[in-house]
Amino acid sequence: MKTVEVKINAQNEKSYPIIIAQGLLDNAYDYISRYTGAKKFLVVTNTTVNDLYGEKLNNTASEFCILPDGEMYKSMEYLNKILDKAMEIKLERKDAIIALGGGVIGDMAGFAASIYRRGVDFIQIPTTLLAQVDSSVGGKTAVNHTLGKNMIGTFYQPKLVLSDINTLKTLDERQFKTGLSEVIKYAFIEKNCGCEQDFKLLEFLRDFKNYIKSKNPDMLINLITACCKLKSSVVNQDEKENGLRAILNFGHTYAHAIENITNYQKYTHGEAVSIGMKLIFELALSLGKIDKAYRDKAVSILNAYNLVTELDFNPDKEIFYNSMLSDKKVSNGGVVFVMPVAPKKVEITNNIDKKLILQGI
Ligand code: NAD
Ligand code: GLY
Repeated sequence: MKTVEVKINAQNEKSYPIIIAQGLLDNAYDYISRYTGAKKFLVVTNTTVNDLYGEKLNNTASEFCILPDGEMYKSMEYLNKILDKAMEIKLERKDAIIALGGGVIGDMAGFAASIYRRGVDFIQIPTTLLAQVDSSVGGKTAVNHTLGKNMIGTFYQPKLVLSDINTLKTLDERQFKTGLSEVIKYAFIEKNCGCEQDFKLLEFLRDFKNYIKSKNPDMLINLITACCKLKSSVVNQDEKENGLRAILNFGHTYAHAIENITNYQKYTHGEAVSIGMKLIFELALSLGKIDKAYRDKAVSILNAYNLVTELDFNPDKEIFYNSMLSDKKVSNGGVVFVMPVAPKKVEITNNIDKKLILQGI
């Protein structure tokens, strides 16, 4: 078992642990009761995850809100269904909402917890690799708007994150690779994270691909722990993305546009991110920010894990660019990128020529 402490501010009032181990779901309420005084719980999940793991959270203190499965349901309409359920079961201010699922459920349940009765305790139980290494950590909550991804949301930290790696056994290859995409992202930004520990993720990922593919439990726990330490180091310094935290969006400027123009249905989030990372390496190379050796090394890592790195259709460039302009990262009307500038190092860049931005699309 590993524990990573997320320390949000000097007073530690919003700090919380991420516990990473095998079998946590079997005793979930034992852990949860240490971090909340809640007497009643609303478990938010989806049909797929409920069939697999809902039973483990079923007890007399819990009620369920089971949403349909998919990014297209990450909307105000389905957020309202969570709030309706909370009202219907008379969830009180001192009760808690639990997210059981991947990033979609985590983001929506967190949003509901942040606004229901002006905020109730929130517990994350992430069940995808992506959610365990990224979305369950750091308190970003959101739903999508038809004009943009994650455009409506809040910053709201959970009281506890329980990452049971046993849940990853039922994840299909496509979803596992989606999570790996976010793992690899950390390798490209590691030097900016300001973490005391040097995980050498870039070297590790290059040399240990077969080990990772074997899904050895200790290796998974160590890998998830490293990602959570890197992310929490960033969040500890910049909870509300006033600067540094933007580096976590490496590859995401392209990714969010890809997801948006394909109605969140063609690619998973991680697939859009791996395509986005390849595109940003090409852009960085054409701007002279990195050399060819680093671009080649980066692309070879994406390829080693068989991640999706190319769009398999030709999008309308104007529509693509307009979608980028409606991203949250737009600043003074320009598209903002997290740009690789050296191995494991990035900088925030804007004012890039539209033609160059679109040349790889
Ligand atoms: P997801 O939540 O859609 O889950 C992927 C699929 O896996 C779904 O079909 C789900 O039902 C299924 N699933 C979940 N757990 C499973 C399990 N243990 N076994 C079998 N199937 C399982 O997608 P995701 O990749 O987890 O998350 C993507 C979302 O996360 C996006 O909406 C993205 O915007 C968001 N996100 C948020 C943050 C953040 O900081 N808040 C960071 C990154 C991504
Ligand atoms: N995944 C981006 C962030 O948490 O800031």
